[in-house]
Amino acid sequence: MDKQFKRTLVTCALPYANGPVHIGHLAGVYVPADIYVRYLRMRGEDVLYVCGSDEHGVPITIKARQQGCTPQDIVDKYHQIIKDSFSGLGINFDIYSRTTSDVHTDIASGFFRKLYDEGKFITRESEQYYDPEAQTFLADRYIVGTCPRCGNEGAYGDQCEKCGSTLSPEELINPKSKLSGAVPVKKKTSHWYLPLDRYEDWLKEWILDGHKEWRTNVYGQCKSWIDGGLQPRAVSRDLDWGVPVPVEGAEGKVLYVWFDAPIGYISNSKELLPQSWEKWWKSADTRLVHFIGKDNIVFHCIVFPSMLKAHGDYILPDNVPANEFLNLEGDKISTSRGWAVWAHEYLADFPGKEDVLRYVLTANAPETKDNDFSWKDFQTRNNSELVAIFGNFVNRAVVLTHKYFGGKVPARGELLDIDREALAEIPQLRASMERNLEGYHFREALKDAMGIARVGNKYISDTEPWKLAKTDMDRVATILNVSLQICADLAVAFEPFTPFAAERLRTMLGVGLDAGTDHRAGEAVTVNTYRPGEGAALHTGVTPRTAVVLRWDSIGGEDLLPAGHAVGAAELLFAKIEDDAVNAQIARLEKIRAEREAAAAAEAARQVAPPKDECTFEDFDKMDIRTATVMEAERVPKTDKLLKLTIDTGLDRRVIVSGIAEFYSPEQMLGKQICILANLKPRVIRGIESRGMILMAKQGDGQMRFITPQEVLTNGSQIG
Ligand code: MF3
Ligand code: ZN
Repeated sequence: MDKQFKRTLVTCALPYANGPVHIGHLAGVYVPADIYVRYLRMRGEDVLYVCGSDEHGVPITIKARQQGCTPQDIVDKYHQIIKDSFSGLGINFDIYSRTTSDVHTDIASGFFRKLYDEGKFITRESEQYYDPEAQTFLADRYIVGTCPRCGNEGAYGDQCEKCGSTLSPEELINPKSKLSGAVPVKKKTSHWYLPLDRYEDWLKEWILDGHKEWRTNVYGQCKSWIDGGLQPRAVSRDLDWGVPVPVEGAEGKVLYVWFDAPIGYISNSKELLPQSWEKWWKSADTRLVHFIGKDNIVFHCIVFPSMLKAHGDYILPDNVPANEFLNLEGDKISTSRGWAVWAHEYLADFPGKEDVLRYVLTANAPETKDNDFSWKDFQTRNNSELVAIFGNFVNRAVVLTHKYFGGKVPARGELLDIDREALAEIPQLRASMERNLEGYHFREALKDAMGIARVGNKYISDTEPWKLAKTDMDRVATILNVSLQICADLAVAFEPFTPFAAERLRTMLGVGLDAGTDHRAGEAVTVNTYRPGEGAALHTGVTPRTAVVLRWDSIGGEDLLPAGHAVGAAELLFAKIEDDAVNAQIARLEKIRAEREAAAAAEAARQVAPPKDECTFEDFDKMDIRTATVMEAERVPKTDKLLKLTIDTGLDRRVIVSGIAEFYSPEQMLGKQICILANLKPRVIRGIESRGMILMAKQGDGQMRFITPQEVLTNGSQIG
């Protein structure tokens, strides 16, 4: 790796503690970060791996209000759920803390205070909405009213959730405070702003010239923000939930959540390593990498770096490998609609299958474009990749070793071409994996790891050792020796991706792993694990139970497992996932989709067309509207929508072609009394002359019904 750096500080976006994490978060941020960290540690790099909950901000206060509890209750609840989800999936941060911690309050206020004292902020007065009854300023989200675009009466001051328009509270018709129902009034308030415009030249140089290697999606977003011209950004809010602004006279003001949250990376580091955290944050030889989703790019590439630059003591990110979004079964993941797969529910529904999710989310990672997660794909990737290739190969090798050699690695004889060719592929795949992991191409790296399993599976299928047992035991010994070496390669190569299975495989093979050093126990303890079955775990001084300890560099090496080494009993690495399990998940989602579609349809049906321009009585009186009866009805050939109706108008019998075939069959129309516009100028439709028009009522969702008098009248009765 890059010699310029002595250590790597990896941060993951702090999840909002107002809901659980879902597969979109996992695929976008946490799984790739975890792969990266595990890999670097196996390479012997010193890595600090930091995350925590983002516990401030308006949405948390709104959720508390909705649920009739305090914001603290909300964050306590979700902090725990999120934390457990991560550890359940083997995503083991060195620290997972929270922005409501004391250390954070200190660090965040100190950060603000330094910038304040050094005159790095500007202040601005503005008029904000204020609730005169609740005596408090109102965040845009706390103002509701009628959407000027679509008439939705429940639109928020920042957005209408019905038509999707971005709004400002000024635009709402009939604005009301969500707190008291009072009509909000404008009131002057003053806030501190970080003048991003002053950092524009520096950002150009630092990112646009200095970080051309960043992912194109990240670089492109930065460029368009910078080219668009940067504006001062408010760093405080009138709110009672957050880190208080540490300035006299700032009562009722807190730091804006996007100001305090990224500082959480620093506070959490300090909380874990009170003595040595500065080494991680203040030395030029630390590589800082932020893992985030694409909606966080501006904050991590423009705003937070400008804050760090203004502060002056801290290093800047070396890379920000942001991912695009993951969709679910073809639709955008939506927390509010329940269109998501939640990490904690997955863990409950698929116990023991943590790796399957990690695997599928990596294989489908939205690295360069939005991608889709589907349960069928999940099942297929498990059954035909993890089970049929990786698991099947390992199982055959270990089972045959027990069958023919009493579970001891047999000594190999002379290698044939087929053996040498298989073995020669491994170092190449390893090299490719290293390039990909270091370049943040995790999908490709996973393909390389799977490539090793494919090599092994093909090798054992092609050499068919089970057929040679009667005739050539020496050859069987060689084949199984080669196969077991490849199994050992897999036990290392899959550690970043599927750590649980890699660990089970090492236990089966009776080997340990040097997984590097972590900081979970705090700075006093550096932990190396040599024990199979624990990964980079929390313990010290453990004596290896095995003489064989593998390391990253073992992959593709010679004789990872010496002849005579005892292998444990075969155990299935992955189990097949049956249709029932995924169908239950699909059914749950289909129910949500059906409910949503029904609600949308009901809503559309309620929509009323806007009024037409005024007309005069004379305009109306020109229309000759009459009752008539349908005498014959047939479909117009080769059309879906048209019916040809022959009607008795009282004046004559005539033909009208009408676009109602979606709503009525010819049989349903026969004999019905309807209303027509009789003096409409004739038109030729599909070669048929149509004389007049049938009056229809049309609902918002497009449903149409014909108009008919309450009781049958003489045909030709005039309507007016
Ligand atoms: N809570 C934010 C989100 O989920 C991410 C915050 S990242 C941090 O989008 F840098 F601010 F911590
Ligand atoms: Zn609207």
